[in-house]
Amino acid sequence: MRLTMIGSGYVGLVTGACFSEMGNRVICVDIDRQKIEKLKKGIVPIFEPGLDKIIKKNLEKGNIEFTTDIAYGVKNSDIVFIAVGTPQSEDGSADLNHVLKAAESIGRYMDHEMIVVDKSTVPVGTADRVRSVIEKKLKERYGENIPFEFDVVSNPEFLKEGDAVADFMKPDRVVVGANSEKSMKIMKELYRPFTLNHERFIAMDIRSAELTKYAANAMLATKISFINEISRIAEALGADINMVRVGIGSDRRIGYHFIYPGVGYGGSCFPKDVRALEKMAVDADIEPAIIKATQKVNFSQRYYFLKKILNRFGDNLSSMTFAVWGLAFKPQTDDMREAPSITIINELTKLGATINAYDPEAMENAKNFWLKDNKHVNYFNNKYDTLNGAEAMILITEWKEFRSPDFYEIKKRLKNPIIFDGRNQYNKEFLKEFGFEYYQIGVRA
Ligand code: UDX
Repeated sequence: MRLTMIGSGYVGLVTGACFSEMGNRVICVDIDRQKIEKLKKGIVPIFEPGLDKIIKKNLEKGNIEFTTDIAYGVKNSDIVFIAVGTPQSEDGSADLNHVLKAAESIGRYMDHEMIVVDKSTVPVGTADRVRSVIEKKLKERYGENIPFEFDVVSNPEFLKEGDAVADFMKPDRVVVGANSEKSMKIMKELYRPFTLNHERFIAMDIRSAELTKYAANAMLATKISFINEISRIAEALGADINMVRVGIGSDRRIGYHFIYPGVGYGGSCFPKDVRALEKMAVDADIEPAIIKATQKVNFSQRYYFLKKILNRFGDNLSSMTFAVWGLAFKPQTDDMREAPSITIINELTKLGATINAYDPEAMENAKNFWLKDNKHVNYFNNKYDTLNGAEAMILITEWKEFRSPDFYEIKKRLKNPIIFDGRNQYNKEFLKEFGFEYYQIGVRA
């Protein structure tokens, strides 16, 4: 099929690349000229395992192309995906400006029958708005009798950063909301290569599809906040959250996934989507009690972790240096959006501390953007070099390379053999024998 992605960000690129891999002809459009120039040369602007290989290969085959010309994209495709960003507006709702602008452009250039797919995470009811924006534009051009049909469907995205290509190729499910049987059939056919061996295509009405995305993210975020709250209770009562986690996860109704305690969820999706769902509920006169609590716990979890450090070192940290391992909001990404590391680092430096930071992928982003104004952060290309003369090591993101570090080296370089572990990566008994003071989440030190 001939597909166009409007928006070559995270979602648009992964979606476009994976569809091109199956033999579809894909056009990826973006307004960012520099980004498109890079992509044309096969340079992928985001770090996502496997993505650059697929893009390079399909560029050479001519299955995928990149352009800033939206008219070209719309005129030369049968299905156009809206995959632009939906940042948060001031009131917590999703900002639909980019989505509605894309819809306007589609209406301006559409000249044959096509399907428009809402891929961006958008509030319930957005497909209707997209449809009326397109219709308005078409009527300006053609009058009341538009000479072709078009349809708007919802196809929310469930990709995890760092696993996005694998998630797309082997999805748990593909959710499509459509009000016409014809469009549903085409969407099913488009996704057939990814849902071949198991029936994972879930067809539903448009509003249910739109809400499914928010409900999934809110449920996952709630699981995290729940385990984080239990972790505080566990520590207070002298239990071990690591044992409690395994104990409850073994119940298949609960499951082991997404009940890892930590410093709270971050990233481009959970915080924004949970807030947007709260706003949708309030606007619909529903009191979103659980959704509010999920966010409250998530925010305070960073401070619960921070307090462990302050309890140990007091709240005047001037002349103290701390080593921070991990800046990205999670491993396998260079993304620092709403990363807990930002709050934790800024709070520590506010109290006078100097931070020696290391992250395998996110340091450029930190330096140039997220921690740009914080002059008390030094960056190192080697995790062990952060430790020299530091009071303690603080682990914030659970990159694999932090799992089995050289503890001799850590002990040798640190001023004191102290580790604050925000992701419960190490064995308490083992570290104790080694002579470390070891603080983790949900376990007394
Ligand atoms: C998420 C959803 O998983 C995905 O389906 C949706 O489309 C977009 O949002 P992503 O933001 O890439 O994907 O990250 P994910 O791997 O889900 O992790 C989210 C956050 O939760 C991270 O900050 C992570 O550290 C945290 N987390 C996750 C925990 O603290 N504990 C867990 O058990 C799992």
